[in-house]
Amino acid sequence: MLENAAMKPNPLFCANWKMNMLQSEAKSFCEKFLSLYSPRPDAAVDVGIAPPLTCLPLVKELLRDTPGIMVGSQNVHWLLSGAHTGEVSGAMLKEVGAEFAIIGHSERRQFYGETDKGVSLRAKAAIDAELKAIVCVGELREEFEQGKTELVVETQLKGSLKGLTEQYLDGLIIAYEPVWAIGTGLAATPEIAEKVQAFIRRLLCEMYGEKQGNLLKILYGGSTTPSNIGELASQPNVNGGLVGGASLKPDVFWELIKTGREVSK
Ligand code: PGA
Repeated sequence: MLENAAMKPNPLFCANWKMNMLQSEAKSFCEKFLSLYSPRPDAAVDVGIAPPLTCLPLVKELLRDTPGIMVGSQNVHWLLSGAHTGEVSGAMLKEVGAEFAIIGHSERRQFYGETDKGVSLRAKAAIDAELKAIVCVGELREEFEQGKTELVVETQLKGSLKGLTEQYLDGLIIAYEPVWAIGTGLAATPEIAEKVQAFIRRLLCEMYGEKQGNLLKILYGGSTTPSNIGELASQPNVNGGLVGGASLKPDVFWELIKTGREVSK
């Protein structure tokens, strides 16, 4: 648990568009979003958008002069270049304006065979390329029902952060995304999110020391909406959200950010 609320890291509300949005749709999104958006008073970055790669340069261009928003990718390869059909390196992402990469999303883990080892290599490569790495962990429904959440999350977290020494921490963000909550409309209750994220916080403090562990952002992801983000983001160890469905509509995403900001003050 955090000792005092003043230590709570600034929140981040990060859109994960997954495999959605053609360029024309991304353009309309950005235009509308910009008409609603205002940055935090201190202009600190608290909004992320991870479009599909085909829209990344366009989204970056449209949001270029807007303070407080970063644009990123939904994955990154661990090598700099080479014979790796279908993969994209950190430098390539950086070149088109990416500032962060989501890594180890449960859809990558479940459907594309991503392992903790691969996640750790990707996270390291992202940070080496000066991208922030949003490393995702989270248990399946059966694991939740069998009371194995902490075991699974601990294994994933330790495996996914292997080799990430203290010098990587500036670039590291964790996202707890219970798989049973993703895209189901059934978000974790604030109590469950807080319990697991406080556990993640304790692990991070054990791994990196209290001071560093308490500075890391831990996002919650899974069916967040403008109506439930308030209770979730006000938990001591929830530092914003990784948002799928609710990030596809500019007015809904903006509502979610506004509500989340309000409770995180
Ligand atoms: P969701 O997705 O908000 O649609 O549940 C979250 C995610 O997969 O990051």
